[in-house]
Amino acid sequence: MKSKIFITGSSGFIGFHTAKKFLDKGIKVHGFDSMNNYYDVNLKKSRLNILRKYRNFSFTKGKIENEQTLLKSVKKFNPQIILHLAAQAGVRYSIKKPETTLNSNIVGTFNILKIASKIKINHLIISSSSSVYGSNKKFPFQEKDKTDHQISFYAATKKSVENLAHCYSSLWELPITMLRFFTVYGPYGRPDMAYFKFTKNILAGQKIDIYNKGKMYRDYTYIDDIVDGIYRLLNKPPSLSSKKKFKNDSLSPVAPFRILNIGNTKKIYLLSFINTLQKELNKKIKRNYLPMQKGDVHSTFSDCSLLKKITGYNPKTNYKVGIKKFINWYRSYYKI
Ligand SMILES: NC(=O)c1ccc[n+]([C@@H]2O[C@H](COP(=O)([O-])OP(=O)(O)OC[C@H]3O[C@@H](n4cnc5c(N)ncnc54)[C@H](O)[C@@H]3O)[C@@H](O)[C@H]2O)c1
Repeated sequence: MKSKIFITGSSGFIGFHTAKKFLDKGIKVHGFDSMNNYYDVNLKKSRLNILRKYRNFSFTKGKIENEQTLLKSVKKFNPQIILHLAAQAGVRYSIKKPETTLNSNIVGTFNILKIASKIKINHLIISSSSSVYGSNKKFPFQEKDKTDHQISFYAATKKSVENLAHCYSSLWELPITMLRFFTVYGPYGRPDMAYFKFTKNILAGQKIDIYNKGKMYRDYTYIDDIVDGIYRLLNKPPSLSSKKKFKNDSLSPVAPFRILNIGNTKKIYLLSFINTLQKELNKKIKRNYLPMQKGDVHSTFSDCSLLKKITGYNPKTNYKVGIKKFINWYRSYYKI
């Protein structure tokens, strides 16, 4: 596979790891990222510095809301595939700063859709989120489940993007895969996510905030499994005829479009996750129990049989192994 892949959000957690895998495979990658300061910019710079060591990597610093900068950069690189991961993440931040979330996630993705429909590309892969399932009570979540009631602004922008993408796919026969990620964790992860904050506070001897008495579960997905799933999908764009092959409700009858869950397909209770962290860090945890937070969903749990059927995707990393790898990275990166 010798494609040219344009990756937005390439200095972010998932963008960095996927870009690195593609570069290792000899694929040409052009990264695009605003390097914003939503969390520690030095972590984004460290990721970018690693990517810059590859001769097959090039980079543009810019905002996806800025259509001209984006268009110029895409046209110059002339990719076959676009992997669109840039977004304003964070449920809480989206409640505090809805405008920023709306601009990055909706206006920015709209620009990607416009540009991708103008140039000929083989596959556009766009990040969505398990949060679109809202407070659904039927587990595991399947792509055909109803997703009409998001409970955070972030989730609502992701659902809106799924709708905009379907429309563009139908109008311009643009092959689009939407990936619903389930709680991704691992080395070079996001400092705003709970597992990262827990680790930081536990090592500093500070209390950790546990919401809803820890009575919730997540489908924690290790980054290497996510990267593997994306890699397997690259050359498998949806086509109109694919609906005959994969009979399911998430494939559109009128567009080369699909929505796929990408998770670990296991439910892990928050307290089990925290207890494993405690064991691996070998430190006593000071717990601060708090009520459920606004916008947070109780539980997530994925059914990934569609992705498996299409690509053979088979997530391998048990959360205990994944936590160990994250902590090893954390200790070495922060020299603790
Ligand atoms: N990590 C998870 O658990 C998870 C779960 C569900 C969905 N997602 C989605 O996956 C994608 C990648 O997530 P991540 O965890 O790597 O997040 P991240 O914040 O680490 O990466 C996003 C990157 O995009 C860049 N960016 C943000 N807004 C931008 C803009 N307007 N223009 C240009 N660049 C911009 C940021 O600087 C950052 O480097 C996002 O769309 C996110 O919503 C992630």
